[in-house]
Amino acid sequence: MNPTNAVLETRVAEMEGGVGALAVSAGSAAVNYAILGIAEQGNNIVSTPQIYGGTFTLFSHMFARLGIEARFAADDDPQSIEALIDDKTSAVFCESIANPVGAFMDIQGIADVAHAHGVPLIVDNTVATPMLIRPFEHGADIVVHSLTKYMGGHGNSIGGIVVDSGKFPWADNADRFPMLNQPEPAYHNMVYTEAMGELAYITRVRTVPLRNTGSSLSPFNAFLILQGIETLALRMERHCENAQAVAEYLEQHPMVTWVKYAGLPASSSFSLAQKYSGGKASGLMAFGIKGGFEAGETFYDALKIFKRLVNIGDAKSLAAHPASTTHRQLTGAELEASGVTPDMIRLCVGIEHIDDIIQDLEQALKAAK
Ligand SMILES: Cc1ncc(COP(=O)(O)O)c(C=O)c1O
Repeated sequence: MNPTNAVLETRVAEMEGGVGALAVSAGSAAVNYAILGIAEQGNNIVSTPQIYGGTFTLFSHMFARLGIEARFAADDDPQSIEALIDDKTSAVFCESIANPVGAFMDIQGIADVAHAHGVPLIVDNTVATPMLIRPFEHGADIVVHSLTKYMGGHGNSIGGIVVDSGKFPWADNADRFPMLNQPEPAYHNMVYTEAMGELAYITRVRTVPLRNTGSSLSPFNAFLILQGIETLALRMERHCENAQAVAEYLEQHPMVTWVKYAGLPASSSFSLAQKYSGGKASGLMAFGIKGGFEAGETFYDALKIFKRLVNIGDAKSLAAHPASTTHRQLTGAELEASGVTPDMIRLCVGIEHIDDIIQDLEQALKAAK
């Protein structure tokens, strides 16, 4: 184990309130390994429909070919998720604040239905970060992050992490999780629950998926991400303040047809945001521009401070058009289910001065008129 990576793992595990963590080369690797640690051919996973496009593609297309079925609930309601769980379900998955429109999930409600069936809840906490939400405090069992985003904060390194709460009773669900309760031929016939106790899951993820397929995090990236984490608390405060001001500005703008931001009282996520993060809704939001796709393109080209980038969680303000970028591989029906519309512009509001941010939006909206 590399000592710099080990510091990162310990630090993020402590920030999330977990017992251990595994740093990997990307957020996508973290999601992949988090599932492959406990699912194999013949199993299924149940997911909320609104998730990052790459995760959606991994689940619906790549896992399908490995014989792991992804079942997407009709909506985010815990009852809709419960309806899809059966005796072959290995995990329930959601994002605490979902990419791309910043919807909040009812983590406790989803954890309760998963646990009622002896299934763990995996939460992608990339958009919230532990500064806004600590999913283990609301019943989640495993947390994953793309460290590429807010955690690192500067778009200078790609990384991911899997964090284990150490609380899921794997041994009580031995039929569902033979890989943690029977000798593992890929690692000295270790029986993880017997040998590792509360570290059973994270040790298997390290010694089987990571050790044999190798998506390790570069220690230099771990160093950069550690630097970023030192300012995370301050940055998240400013991201939330700026985004709230931008959402309120857009909401009253005549060129804007709709705004989705959980900090607005009109948002369907408003009450969940109050419950889970005291109303702090992170920097991610989406809006529709009057004039649709064409006006959107003109607006997009006119932006000066906002960078046109599909990344999120950078200190710099970013704008994207998900339907033609992050969610491009999705079919029309998949797009609709994941909450992406063709006219939608996604903003990830940065930490620049709010007057500069609003001025940039104002001049770009004027150009699109
Ligand atoms: C919520 C979420 N999870 C995971 C990922 C994948 O992370 P990475 O780009 O580090 O592979 C992303 C990327 O945008 C994301 O937004």
